Amino acid sequence: MKVFAINSSARVGGQSKTELILNQLIKGMKEEGAEVEVVNIFKKKINYCVGCFTCWTKTPGNCVHLDDMSKEIFPKYMASDLCIMATPLFHYTVNANLKTFIERTLPFVQPFFELKNGITRHPLRQEPPPVVSVSVAGFPEYSVFEQLSAYMNYLYGKRLKAEIYIPGAENLAQKLTDPIVKSILDAVTQGGRELIKNKTISKGTMKTINTPAIDIKTMSAIVNIYWQTCIDEGVTPKEFKKLGMVPRPDSLESFLVLMKEGFNPEKSQGFKGCYQFIFSGEQEGDCYFTINNGEIHCSPGSAVEPNITIVTPFELWMDIVTRKADGPQMFMEQKYKVDGDLNFLIKMGEVFG
Ligand SMILES: Cc1cc2nc3c(=O)[nH]c(=O)nc-3n(C[C@H](O)[C@H](O)[C@H](O)COP(=O)(O)O)c2cc1C
Repeated sequence: MKVFAINSSARVGGQSKTELILNQLIKGMKEEGAEVEVVNIFKKKINYCVGCFTCWTKTPGNCVHLDDMSKEIFPKYMASDLCIMATPLFHYTVNANLKTFIERTLPFVQPFFELKNGITRHPLRQEPPPVVSVSVAGFPEYSVFEQLSAYMNYLYGKRLKAEIYIPGAENLAQKLTDPIVKSILDAVTQGGRELIKNKTISKGTMKTINTPAIDIKTMSAIVNIYWQTCIDEGVTPKEFKKLGMVPRPDSLESFLVLMKEGFNPEKSQGFKGCYQFIFSGEQEGDCYFTINNGEIHCSPGSAVEPNITIVTPFELWMDIVTRKADGPQMFMEQKYKVDGDLNFLIKMGEVFG
């Protein structure tokens, strides 16, 4: 089976979440023996349709534009047995790159009106391939894909063989080792296998693909301190990642969320400890977290028997968390105080990050 995969994301260099999901799907397809060609249409020259209808009249089936679409992409699309259309969700629908491609597929229909099942359509000039729609979104709710799904269903009808939509994709991509995220990605690969074998994805596999991976409240807290840090430091997301930056908590609540999200269960196997924080300054208050063999529990307030108590100005500790200040150096300079076993302080550096 010849699969033609269109990736319309403008992001490159491992940054694209569309590509992340598309690659998972393609992996499964290839395992089932499919021949897959991927085209990143952002890098191609695809002119806008100018609505001249030359492809319907003077040169039936052929567009006036002699660009990459006419010369390469449209012929490959029409010759394929299955086409994957993968797009980041932009303003609740396909992005402009994919929309431009879709509009340029006008040559495969004829100009006439044909009434079928109460709906007027254009008769086909050539049979286009079945379609699999893939998309990723920034917002965490599945409802963000409603318009895209309605559009793809209306446009491709029975030709639409599957829809793989991943909300909260930016956050999901930060948690590739998380067991739920892993099972979603594995299910996308399984979906690829099933599409080649059975021309559809089973209900069970779709159920796993659509498992909610991220708690929406947690995600919002992380997203908000992440963007605020980008704004404050004047960096783009790409630069943030390249510089290995950490979102800066602005409250006790966001500090606890960050600690939970930044916790590395593998690095804390066999370790047990309770950390108490007493913050002063801009954000006064107490909170603590307990680590027990790969699990973390975070809470505001006071712990019964902490192994270590850190008394610090909130701002200073956030400087340490975001690597603006050196923790040991600040300790030597007595900018914060520690009561308890210092080994727990050293361990903290290992289990977060
Ligand atoms: C112009 C623009 C519009 C976007 N519109 C939406 C949207 O309507 N809903 C949403 O959930 N995410 C939206 N996003 C977020 C993207 O869907 C999200 O960042 C996605 O992961 C990008 O995919 P990529 O990494 O393959 O480029 C938008 C992003 C941009 C840049």
